[in-house]
Amino acid sequence: MAKILVTGGTGFIGSHTVVELHNAGYEVLIVDDFSNSDPKILDQIQSIIGIRPDFINLDLCDEAKVKAFVTEHTDITGVIHFAAFKAVGESVQQPLKYYRNNFYSLLNLIGAFNSSTDFVFSSSCTVYGQPDVLPVTEEAPTKKAESPYGNTKQIAEEMLQEICAVSPALNVISLRYFNPVGAHHTALIGELPIGVPQNLVPFITQSAIGKRGPITVFGNDYNTPDGSAVRDYIHVVDLAKAHVAAIKRLEDKKAETNYEVFNLGTGKGSSVLQIIAAFEESTGEKLNYAIGPRREGDVEQVWGDVTKSTKDLGWTAALDINEMMLSAWNWEKYLKDNPF
Ligand code: WQD
Repeated sequence: MAKILVTGGTGFIGSHTVVELHNAGYEVLIVDDFSNSDPKILDQIQSIIGIRPDFINLDLCDEAKVKAFVTEHTDITGVIHFAAFKAVGESVQQPLKYYRNNFYSLLNLIGAFNSSTDFVFSSSCTVYGQPDVLPVTEEAPTKKAESPYGNTKQIAEEMLQEICAVSPALNVISLRYFNPVGAHHTALIGELPIGVPQNLVPFITQSAIGKRGPITVFGNDYNTPDGSAVRDYIHVVDLAKAHVAAIKRLEDKKAETNYEVFNLGTGKGSSVLQIIAAFEESTGEKLNYAIGPRREGDVEQVWGDVTKSTKDLGWTAALDINEMMLSAWNWEKYLKDNPF
C-alpha cells in the first residue's frame, strides 16, 4: 500500500487531506510539532476515519533529525508538505521566524528524501499578487510578494523548480491555493485560528457565535461590483481531494516535466459583502458588520483559472459557497460545545 507522509497533518488543510488520503486507500504518516495546531485533532481524525493515523512529533528544522527519520521510514512513497507558518501579518512582524521555519523544513525534507519519492508542495495564489489578467492562470507572472510569508512561497517554488531541473528522478507538484474555507461535514475538524482570526470566514463564524464583535469589511471603495475585495473561496474538502489527485498524477508519471504547478480554486470570484450575504442566507444568522479602511497589503481582486487542474489532475471543485458557509458555521458551533 502506498504510504504518504503528511507534514503539518494536524493543521487545517493537512487534517482534511489525511481524511481524503485514507478514503482513497492510502496509508498515512503525520509529522507535526503542533506549533499551529492541537494534538486533539488526531482524536478527531480517528473519529472520522475509524483508525488513529500514525503520528510522529518531529522538528522539521532539525536536519539531523529529519535525515534519521527518512532513513528509518523507507516505506514512504510520497510526501505532502503543509508544515509552514502562514499568517501574513505575523510574517511582516517576524520575518526571520518565517524564513527560517518555512525554508529549513522544506530544504531538510527535499534534501533527505531520495529522488524516488513524490513530493507535493503547499503553495498559494499569493505568488500572483494583483494579477494583470483575470482569471489568473499558472503561466501568469509571479509578482513581488507583499509579505515575508508570500515571499517564502515564491522562493520555495523557485528552489523546487531549480532542484528538479538537475534531479530528473525527482517528481514535484506545487499547488497554489486560493482561499480555503469551510470544514468537514462531520464538523469534527475545521479551521482552528489561534488568537484573533486574520482570515475573513473564521472571523465571520466567531462574530456570529458571539466570540468576536462586528466584522469590519476592509474597504468598499475597490473597483469591484459592490466595492469590496474579491477572492476565489474554495471548500477545504475540495482542496484536500486535489492533493490526492496530485499524488495520483505523480504516481502515474505521465507529466512531461518533473516540476508542475496547479491552481486550486473554483474559478469564480466572490466579494467580501457577497460572502457575508451568503453566510446569512445559508445559516439564517444575522451578521453585524461595518465598512472600514482597506487592509495594508490586500489585493483588489483575484480568482483562478482552473482549466489546467481539471485537465491534468482530473479534479474540479464540487462544493459551493452555501456548503462552505454552512460547514464553517457547524464547526464553530461544535467548538462552542467542545472547546479545544
Ligand atoms: C479575504 C478578504 C480581506 C478579514 C490570505 C493569505 C493567502 C491565503 C489565504 C495562505 C480580503 C477581507 C478579511 C476581515 C475583511 N493564506 N477581510 N475583514 O488575505 O485573501 O489571503 O489567506 O495560503 O496566502 O494572503 O484572505 O481571509 O484574510 O481575506 O474584510 O476581518 O476578506 O480584506 O479582501 P486573503 P483573508
